Amino acid sequence: MEQLENVRREYHYGSLSREDLDPSPFAEFDHWMQQAMAAGIQDPTAMSIATVGMDYRPSQRTVLLKHSDDRGLVFYTNLESRKSLEIAHNNQVSILFPWFAMDRQVSVEGRAERLDARSVLKYFLTRPRDSQIATWASSQSRKLDSRALLEAEFFRMKTKFQDGKIPLPAFWGGYRIVPDRWEFWQGGEHRLHDRFEYRRKKNSWTISRLAP
Ligand SMILES: Cc1cc2nc3c(=O)[nH]c(=O)nc-3n(C[C@H](O)[C@H](O)[C@H](O)COP(=O)(O)O)c2cc1C
Repeated sequence: MEQLENVRREYHYGSLSREDLDPSPFAEFDHWMQQAMAAGIQDPTAMSIATVGMDYRPSQRTVLLKHSDDRGLVFYTNLESRKSLEIAHNNQVSILFPWFAMDRQVSVEGRAERLDARSVLKYFLTRPRDSQIATWASSQSRKLDSRALLEAEFFRMKTKFQDGKIPLPAFWGGYRIVPDRWEFWQGGEHRLHDRFEYRRKKNSWTISRLAP
């Protein structure tokens, strides 16, 4: 049986230098995301998001990035979920894209802002019908006695909304993460990785290389 301590590999995918970097972290991120998609990475838009509760306990989970532009990074979720309750109390969050197939990770820190209802509705309408129904059927993060109850609720909602359009639940929405720090990490040989940090400075960004 292989020992955990022996699991390791070298990182050969590439290197990163200061001249390669776009002055805008949003443009740099877009470039990396396009490369991740072109490389066929599974779930390239999946990101871990960490929040901190009232008791200062951090927790994290995966969500899907649904939009990104110079204003920030957007995801959708249940507004009564654990993450949303924690964001309501403390809007500082951290996200991480684990693109290990390219020896890369991108991490972002910033504040999460609630999206307006119009933007949420616009996205909700693009979701497959059964996903819209599932949104109604699940009280995300709450205790649930059995899977059968969840399925029963799904079919109850399916019948309820049988014909017409499915309305946007008031408890469902989205957040835009407005970054003030980014880090682009590219694995290097002999554990000599390249790390570049962008920090927001009023309307521009300062870029620093960090020791691996
Ligand atoms: C690949 C993947 C994608 C996911 N995408 C989302 C998402 O976009 N929105 C969401 O609310 N939950 C998503 N989930 C489920 C969350 O990880 C999590 O279980 C859920 O949001 C409840 O989290 P919370 O109780 O910490 O609030 C995803 C899970 C995985 C593994």
